[in-house]
Parts: sequence; structure tokens; C-alpha cells
Amino acid sequence: MKKLVMGAVATAVLATSGLAAEYTLKFSHVVSPNTPKGKAADFFEKRLEELSGGKIDVQVYPSSQLYKDNAVLKALTLNSVQMAAPSFSKFGKIVPQLALFDLPFLFNDIDHLHRVQDSQVGKKLKGLVTAKGYVALSFWDNGFKQLSSSEKPLIKPVDAQGQKFRIMSSKVLEAQFHAVGANPQMMPFSEVYSGLQQGVIDGQENTISNIYTKKFHEVQKYLTISNHGYLGYLVVVSKKFWESLPSELRKDVAQAMIEATKKEREYAQELNDSQFDKIKEYAKTTGKLEIFELTSEQRNAWKKAVSKIYPEFYDEDLIGKDLIEGALSTK
Ligand code: LMR
Repeated sequence: MKKLVMGAVATAVLATSGLAAEYTLKFSHVVSPNTPKGKAADFFEKRLEELSGGKIDVQVYPSSQLYKDNAVLKALTLNSVQMAAPSFSKFGKIVPQLALFDLPFLFNDIDHLHRVQDSQVGKKLKGLVTAKGYVALSFWDNGFKQLSSSEKPLIKPVDAQGQKFRIMSSKVLEAQFHAVGANPQMMPFSEVYSGLQQGVIDGQENTISNIYTKKFHEVQKYLTISNHGYLGYLVVVSKKFWESLPSELRKDVAQAMIEATKKEREYAQELNDSQFDKIKEYAKTTGKLEIFELTSEQRNAWKKAVSKIYPEFYDEDLIGKDLIEGALSTK
């Protein structure tokens, strides 16, 4: 339920059910509402309130209003918040193996990635999260990441040399930028815009949707469509909250999540496409941004330069050779 707008929807749900909400589910995330995760969280809110007949009041808090990045994982264990969908990198301290999804050029395309998530590899990763006291519900997409800079166009790997790039807290992303001689700097998502604007960092990597909705392109000069790595999420629920729910309501949560996941994949595709058109329009009308789309030869040079980091993560406490090879060999 929207906090300020106790309006039509709230009244309708409560009127049809005749009941006041018995449970509150706060869903905290860091991105804008108009992103794949933001829209799917809003869809989930509406759907779960309908399915539960208003027994569960879902409150979505976007844009790091409640918790920044990985801080939400601690809040989930305390049940201060009941649901979140952190990107895989943010699980680094709890389940480092999820950084499998951060490995650059590991996935041929989004279908390959979905098959890996549905395979034993995905099951094993969810199991590791469950073992740490969370309820792992679903994988959500954002999409493939692109590179941007205010220093220099990024066409060849050598162009990244010496540039400072913001990264999420991920050992894989750190190694990826070191592999091309760049300086990775960990920074919460909520600080990236000002970091770019003030020149604390030269560049960053993110999906089109995150770049567009947080206006990173307005404080960068060069954008390279590299699709070098993937950004996605694991939707997790507080175990305490889950255990407090009667089985009927757990079924409603699971059903709303199935529907929201389907929608989320559609939003990811649509928004990354339509928001790219908007960035192109911005580049054309302002002349302040140059966009480069790598040829397959140029992309292969990046792949060669960064995929050599895989063996650094063969150790089971990092990612594990079995998971990396399992992903690579998934048909
Ligand atoms: C980031 O920190 O760049 C992303 O994880 C933000 C997000 O949740 O998409």
C-alpha cells in the first residue's frame, strides 16, 4: 500500500475484504520506480494485496529511502524490512558465490542466463542463501551493463587504463577493472551520480535503465554499448516474517512472486530498449554525449582482456570452479 496515498486502491481492497491488514511487508530497494525492479515491486504490491484480500499490506520504498545497498541484508535478518531484491554483488559478504553472475562475458545472452538460473547452478546458489537464514524466492533481471566515462571513449580495453570506475562491492568487478589497468572504487548506488558529477570517479558500469533513471548519462561524456556483464537480483524475504505467515498467505506471496517475475522480465526488456532511445535522443539534441556501439571484434578484445580473471574465482569460498564451469556448459 502506498504510504501517503491511502486512496482508491486501499479503500477498494479493504472494502472487498472487510478486513484490516494483518501483516505489513516492507519492500526496500535502491533504484527508481521506473526501472524493471521498481515496476515489478509495484506490481507485486498490487497483486499480493489483491490475492491476500488485503491481509498483507505491501509498502514499497524505492531509491534507497530506507536502506542503501547491502545494508538491507542485515535489516532483513532483524525483520525491520521483510523483502528486498539486492543485486548479486551485494550478497558478497554473505554468499560470495552469487558473484558468479558478475563474471564478465560469462553468458551468451539472456536466454542462456535464464537457463543457468533454472539449472542446478541456480538451485545451488539459492540453497546457499537459504542456509544463511533468508528465504530466496526468485531471480529478477535487469540486463547487461554498459560502460561510461567522462575522461575518454572506451573502445579498446587499453582505453580504461588509469580511469577510476565506480563498482558495487564485488571482488569480481574489482578484478575485472584491474584486468584492464583501471582503478575500481566501491561506492553505494545512491552516491554514483554525485561521484560522477564531482569527478570523484571518471566512469561507471550499469544497465541502460539504471543509467537513464539516475541520469548518469548527463554527467558523462562517453557511453559504450559493451554488454560486457550482467546485472540481476535475487528476491529475498526475511525468514522471521516468512515463518510468521500462515500457509495460505505464503501461497499468495509465492503466486504474486511468480506473476511479478514474469512481468519483471518483460519490463527489463522494454525499459532497457525504450530508455536507450531516450539516451540517444538526449545525445542527439544536446551534443553532450557520444555513444559507441562496439563491433564484435572490439567486443572480443574486451572479452579476451577480462575473462582471464575466471580462474581467480575457482576457489569454493569465492565462487567455485564447478559453478563457473556449470554456467559455461549450460546449454
Ligand atoms: C548498483 O548498485 O549499481 C545496482 O545494484 C543497483 C540496482 O539495484 O540495480
